[in-house]
Amino acid sequence: MENEVLKCIYTRRSVRSFKDKLVPKEIIEKILKAGVMAPSAMNKQPWNFSVVEGKGNITRFGEKALKGWNLMSVAARLGVMLKKADSIFFNAPLLIVVSGKKKWMFLKDDINLCVENMFLAAHSLGIGSCWIGFALPLDKDKTARKELGIPMNNKIVAPLVFGYPMTENKRIPERKVNILKWIK
Ligand SMILES: Cc1cc2nc3c(=O)[nH]c(=O)nc-3n(C[C@H](O)[C@H](O)[C@H](O)COP(=O)(O)O)c2cc1C
Repeated sequence: MENEVLKCIYTRRSVRSFKDKLVPKEIIEKILKAGVMAPSAMNKQPWNFSVVEGKGNITRFGEKALKGWNLMSVAARLGVMLKKADSIFFNAPLLIVVSGKKKWMFLKDDINLCVENMFLAAHSLGIGSCWIGFALPLDKDKTARKELGIPMNNKIVAPLVFGYPMTENKRIPERKVNILKWIK
């Protein structure tokens, strides 16, 4: 592989099966530091982080997210097979919820960049990760938001799980580079 950065980008995969082992604090801090090194519009750095450690705590939030889906009956409409709380967070030992001020027009853009930095940093440190869009109902759950310390004017953008991968994930979902035009 040409260099370490490209190798890291090309080999990162979403991980959905984790060892029963906590991620050490120093590693969590490195992942967070990589996140905040991302570019942000007008250098707003709009990201806030809520860190949840331990399968038990995380499954509790999984139950809340699941309840949110059931209340909305969206899971059924999407044909989503979400039956158990651990089908949301995959028994991960670490959950990081990234949120930020609702009103900031580039909130999603900035946080998306922050997240990919976190994923790549994690991967370079031997930690697997996955974005959990299915956890978004937590944004509407007052008790979950309170527990996560998320203020009213903030919105959850990215619920992320991390942990030591159970197995090496070699399957690479197909990628295409769709070039519409290349003007010289
Ligand atoms: C916004 C977003 C939401 C996602 N939500 C989920 C999710 O709820 N559950 C899940 O298993 N994977 C989720 N993923 C992971 C994608 O399925 C995964 O990135 C995609 O299949 C490509 O695979 P790769 O990450 O291994 O390259 C999400 C990814 C993104 C970017």
